[in-house]
Amino acid sequence: MARPPKQPREEAAGWQSRLAAAELLHATLDKGVDLEVAQGKSRNFDRLEGPDRGFARAIAGAALRGVGRIDWALSGMLDRPMADIQPEVRALLRAGAAQLWMLDVAPHAAVSATVEAARNWPGATKGGGLINAVLRRAGREMEAFQTAPPASVWPDWLAAKLKSALGPERADAMAELQLEEPPVDLSLKPGVDAVELAGMLGGEVLPTGTVRVKAGMKLGELPGYAAGDWWVQDAAAALAAVLLDAKADEAVADLCAAPGGAAMQLAAAGAKLTAVDMSRQRLALLRETMQRTRLPMEVVEADAREWRPAAPLDAVLLDAPCSALGTLRRYPEGAWRRDPKDLARLPAIQRSLVDAAGEMLRPGGRLVYCVSTPAAEEGREVIEAAFAGGGWRRVKITAGELPGFGHALTDDGDVITAPPMRDSKVADAEKIVAEPIKSDVFYIARLERTKL
Ligand SMILES: C[S@@+](CC[C@H](N)C(=O)[O-])C[C@H]1O[C@@H](n2cnc3c(N)ncnc32)[C@H](O)[C@@H]1O
Repeated sequence: MARPPKQPREEAAGWQSRLAAAELLHATLDKGVDLEVAQGKSRNFDRLEGPDRGFARAIAGAALRGVGRIDWALSGMLDRPMADIQPEVRALLRAGAAQLWMLDVAPHAAVSATVEAARNWPGATKGGGLINAVLRRAGREMEAFQTAPPASVWPDWLAAKLKSALGPERADAMAELQLEEPPVDLSLKPGVDAVELAGMLGGEVLPTGTVRVKAGMKLGELPGYAAGDWWVQDAAAALAAVLLDAKADEAVADLCAAPGGAAMQLAAAGAKLTAVDMSRQRLALLRETMQRTRLPMEVVEADAREWRPAAPLDAVLLDAPCSALGTLRRYPEGAWRRDPKDLARLPAIQRSLVDAAGEMLRPGGRLVYCVSTPAAEEGREVIEAAFAGGGWRRVKITAGELPGFGHALTDDGDVITAPPMRDSKVADAEKIVAEPIKSDVFYIARLERTKL
């Protein structure tokens, strides 16, 4: 008897988004391409539109933020190390796990669409069986991810560094925060109504006055963008300029100014601002924002270790070049590319920039130093070295200056904006003046020049 004709195989819906997400993961994690660049180059991503495109981006973003923890949890379900798995298959496993464990996609949909994506990706066609088996198990065993060590989101050397900087519990809280998609924070030009803007954008006003909106919006199309009413700046990144407290007509320099968030704040405060940066490319971004916001400042392309003002300054902001470990939640793939040896050169540069700032300030002039990392060697130890050299005193930051960031105040009167410990009421409840703001992690210290 003739066999009945084979039924055409039904395609699982949405496999194209999974394929595009896996292609982005393969490009970023296996080939070292930045996510933005990978999005521009991926044909499968390029073909997607609307929600499918957003979904592919969401899968890739989640998988990148959680990849260390995903791999940790998947390794218990595999008979060989992740490193020995075909790269395309590995990327699909990670994309599948991110859907199941981080994005709450229904297991049936996540598994079938990811397996279908394997069938449509030449490098992964033989991996469908493995992907199917592992992701089915992953769908049943959510706890493999939930109970994985939080710090497994980072390479071991980095987890050790952040634990030593913050203590294990606060480092764990920072690791947990990395799993969340970071929102977009907006700093407002004076006179712009924060409540009204937040209402129009479906966002919220933070205790600092920052307006926080969901990620993924087309910023250039939002109300107030073209009019220059706001610029993008993480809520913690906005603290440094606030703590410098620049007054109208004070002579102020922002020594590492590009792309310009803090410079806009200082100009908006009415300071006579010189914005210095050595990167022409990044200064172009600052100039764009300056033109959009129409905030006045002098822009200088120079190495701040060599540039000097014509007359002593009242205040200097130094947002020094650093390892940027505090912004990993926005660029998580960076964690897997950084070489700890590259970070060793930074403290010497940071110290020489502080020395340069000292030569620019009048006696009694103020310096706010900040770096987007909690690592002591780039933060507290740089400031201690400045004190050891003489000519500086610390001007302690106080809780009253930190609405929503009370948890960030250190015993020395500096700031480290790492999230508070999980489930903790925070030891010193008096420091808390509002719901703790989740943010990037900055170290900030405020100093006064005591002599020339
Ligand atoms: C963390 S970013 C500054 C961000 C900026 N404060 C803002 O709010 O947008 C550090 C900047 O320092 C600049 N930079 C690094 N070394 C420098 C130096 N020696 N002199 C001047 N700028 C420098 C980099 O080009 C980079 O734009």
